[in-house]
This record gives sequence, structure tokens and C-alpha cells, in this order.
Amino acid sequence: MTQRRPSSARWLQEHREDPYVAAARRDGYRSRAAYKLLELQTYPQEHRLPDQAGGVLLQPGMTVVDLGAAPGGWSQVAAQLVGPTGRVVAIDLLPMAPIPGVEVVEGDFLDEAILARLNDFLAHAGQVRSAHVILSDMAPNMSGIPTVDQARGELLAESAFQFAEATLRSGGCLVLKVFQGSSFHAIVAQARQLFARVKLIKPRASRDRSPEQYLLGLGFHR
Ligand SMILES: C[S@@+](CC[C@H](N)C(=O)[O-])C[C@H]1O[C@@H](n2cnc3c(N)ncnc32)[C@H](O)[C@@H]1O
Repeated sequence: MTQRRPSSARWLQEHREDPYVAAARRDGYRSRAAYKLLELQTYPQEHRLPDQAGGVLLQPGMTVVDLGAAPGGWSQVAAQLVGPTGRVVAIDLLPMAPIPGVEVVEGDFLDEAILARLNDFLAHAGQVRSAHVILSDMAPNMSGIPTVDQARGELLAESAFQFAEATLRSGGCLVLKVFQGSSFHAIVAQARQLFARVKLIKPRASRDRSPEQYLLGLGFHR
């Protein structure tokens, strides 16, 4: 009989007892990650950040891009919040079951041909800078080799940041999963140049033992 590794046994135990897993099942979200975005949605209001009109991130009618979207918790939340007059364009390496109101591109965000397809989706009525909000929860498949995983995570974050810089409208927002490493401080410094306000946030729904954090940029300007 195969012995379960202690780490996977711990994961199963945590999963069973996790209130966000139970809430996702109850509320019809595909992942517990949905609650991280719901928390970030009202962060500007809760922390009285004056740069964000309305105090919330996603508003009806907005165009949102969700990078690393599968299985789709964030896309579900985004589609609900932007409503029928908004747009959500999602991309992931993995196939994603359809979500009403979400356009999906399947492929590698780091692949130039796929990136061109994503840009085609976005170049709405000839407008290059069409996105109000860029979300990136991209994380690499873990190899188990810390230096490799960290480098892959950093590359995803850097690429998502460059994409945001090229596609955000003036006043737009970025939510970016960031990874500790050599490029971390450079990304934060660049974000401070390009956004009126920058915060690093560890949402309550993010597991304590996970080092993940999100960079929130409000009020994009060039
Ligand atoms: C933490 S999960 C995202 C969870 C999602 N936000 C949700 O709410 O369900 C990270 C995702 O990033 C995707 N990903 C990693 N590298 C990618 C790449 N190069 N291009 C596109 N997606 C990628 C993975 O396939 C994975 O589905």
C-alpha cells in the first residue's frame, strides 16, 4: 500500500477543516481563492484609500483581465462584479469550464503567440489600453526545488507587471501575486512609479504558512 506523505496528509486535514473551502462549496465558487479577491475588492474602502473611486476595485461595466484564472474562482467573482455591461477575459495553461460572462484564452501567458491572442481579445474597437483592472494570481507548478520555483514565480510576476503596464487605462488597478526573490523590490519600486498608491497585502483567506502576498496598485499613470 502507498504511504501518504506527511505533507499531503497535512494538506488533506487542512482542506477538510478550512472554513473557506466550506464557504466556496456553499456559495458556488470553484476555489477558496474567490475569498481573497472578495477581500481585496473592499480593501480600498476598509483602509480608506482615497485614490480608488467608489472604494471598491471592480465596478459594473469594467474590463478585467484575469491571468492564471483556473479553476475560475476569481473569474466568477469578477464576472459578478462587472455585470453584463463589463468584460472579463481569463487566461490559463489549464482548460477552464465555461463561466457565463467570461471569455477564456487557453495557453501559456509567457508564449508570445498566446499573448498576441490575448491582446486581440482586448483590442476592443481599436483601443489598445482597454483594461480597467489586471488580476494575476499566476503561480508556477511547483517542482519542489525552491530556487527553480522562486525563479518561475518571479518571471510570471514580472511578465504580468509588464502586461499591466502596456494594457491598463489611466486610473486602472493591478492585483498581482508577487514572489520573494531578487526581482521583488524592483517590482514594488516600479509599481510605486506607475501607481498613485501601492500596498502589499496578505489576505485573511491566504493560508498562514503560505508566503504568498499580493501587490495592489491603484491609480495607474504613465
Ligand atoms: C493559484 S492558481 C489560480 C487560482 C484562481 N485565481 C482561482 O480563483 O481559481 C494559479 C494558476 O496559474 C496558472 N498558470 C501558471 N503559469 C501560467 C502561465 N505561464 N500561463 C497561464 N497560466 C499559468 C496555473 O495553471 C494555475 O491555474
